[in-house]
Amino acid sequence: MKPYRRHVFICTNRRPEDDPRGCCAAKGSDAVRDRFKETLGARGVKGVRANASGCLDQCANGCTVVVYPDAVWYGHVTVDDVDEIVERHLIGGEPVERLRIDRT
Ligand code: FES
Repeated sequence: MKPYRRHVFICTNRRPEDDPRGCCAAKGSDAVRDRFKETLGARGVKGVRANASGCLDQCANGCTVVVYPDAVWYGHVTVDDVDEIVERHLIGGEPVERLRIDRT
């Protein structure tokens, strides 16, 4: 099996409800991760893996997603954004600019 060309890291870190930093899990990141896995599989995308990750240190921007080796960071990602990221970026090669947090 060839190594993956890209990894999509989805922060699924969970903190207690009273933690002022919040967390991506409280913003629905488990569902975001599941949607990435489902959509990549359904579209037959090869060479790209969706991985749950720990805190990516962008908690205020959660749900946080980063695509490597592109080093494109997405913030405030919801389940409804996943299909667009898969189609435009992971298949089409063009990042979804409206969701990027590495350019602000
Ligand atoms: S909890 Fe997700 S970036 Fe910190």
